[in-house]
Amino acid sequence: MKNIARLSLLAAGLIMMAGIARAEPKAEVMHWWTSGGEAAAAKVLKDEFSANGGTWTDMAVAGGGGDAAKTALKARVLAGNPPTAFQMKGPSIQEWSEEGVLADIDDVAKANNWDKVLPAMIAAHMKCGGKYCAAPVNIHRVNWIWANPKVLAKVGVSKVPTSWDEFNAVADKLKAAGITPLAHGGQSWQDATVFETVVLGFGADFYKKALVDLDEKALGSDTMKKVFDQMRKMRGYVDKNFSGRDWNLATAMVMNGEAAFQIMGDWAKGEFTAAGKKPNVDYLCAPTPGSGYLYNVDSFAMFAVKGKDKIEGQKLLAKLIMGPKFQEVFNLNKGSIPVRTDVPLTKFDACALKSNADLKTADANGTLLPSYAHGMAMRGAQSGAITDVVTKFFNSDMSSQDAVKQLVKAVRNSR
Ligand code: BGC
Repeated sequence: MKNIARLSLLAAGLIMMAGIARAEPKAEVMHWWTSGGEAAAAKVLKDEFSANGGTWTDMAVAGGGGDAAKTALKARVLAGNPPTAFQMKGPSIQEWSEEGVLADIDDVAKANNWDKVLPAMIAAHMKCGGKYCAAPVNIHRVNWIWANPKVLAKVGVSKVPTSWDEFNAVADKLKAAGITPLAHGGQSWQDATVFETVVLGFGADFYKKALVDLDEKALGSDTMKKVFDQMRKMRGYVDKNFSGRDWNLATAMVMNGEAAFQIMGDWAKGEFTAAGKKPNVDYLCAPTPGSGYLYNVDSFAMFAVKGKDKIEGQKLLAKLIMGPKFQEVFNLNKGSIPVRTDVPLTKFDACALKSNADLKTADANGTLLPSYAHGMAMRGAQSGAITDVVTKFFNSDMSSQDAVKQLVKAVRNSR
């Protein structure tokens, strides 16, 4: 009896020790992936986390571009109750790190050779003070036009326009035929998305000066006036119900033949994919006019939280996000391409292959540029100041001259 009692005590002790050593990974993950394609992609991560013994608490905050999610995050951090992981991008990663609220995941990155499998420019976005503090998921290209070939055929057009003048000529034809040329959702981040592609259309150099270097000469230039002139044209190409429309509903308009074009990052392709649509058959993808590649990298930053289970959760999440199989399956659903350079693209479609090829060309010729509209190019206060002017212009009869003046002033005041 005595021996049996001793043995069971020992067994209980061992179980307890095992419990202390290996807490069950837990993660409360805050993100804004709620559209059809986005949710399908997010599910890949959730499922993989659960399959590896993790408990996932989903904190999806609806709202394209993440404005609502970012507001919710601020409130959580201020209340001293941050989520374990947040879908955070670009310079905002370093901004949050400067607040002293992020955790580092450098041990996971080192153990899995992230420095070797990530392009240096992307690795730099993920580091805080030289250590990894975020895990990258994908590379989205922003400067895309999505088109419905059947709608274009109605006005005798078979290709996506390659200059803004050509775009305007086709749009005028469509309008005359009673077809909405541009599916757009009047939300400030969508206005900013269209705006940055127009800026790129006036040259990658001009984009860099205006929206990366925030050079006042470029911001106040005649070229910038022309950008606003084109935005005014765009305003004439949207339907009367555009205000407040979600981006995925605009994608659906192109899909259903209610509009010809949408200018949107390739998360729009996630919507086409989720609906079973095929590129070059049901829809066309082509870069917006001009050369260059506006990149937008989704990533997850980890907050400094207490509890071994949560810390284990962060480690597991970081490891899974950078796993080669996950990178393939997730990005097939999301419309983006893997961020790892060693993932085969054999299962990816023509638009993804074009994205990958153009990315390499742009990297080689210096036209690979961060998207301002998606938080990759500058700090929040500055991008917010620019977007305010763009949206005000799009929703009023402000002149291009005034817009340019306001742009210079807004950027100056945000420094
Ligand atoms: C994100 C994408 C997302 C899109 C629309 C972008 O800022 O990077 O992942 O699909 O917003 O919500």
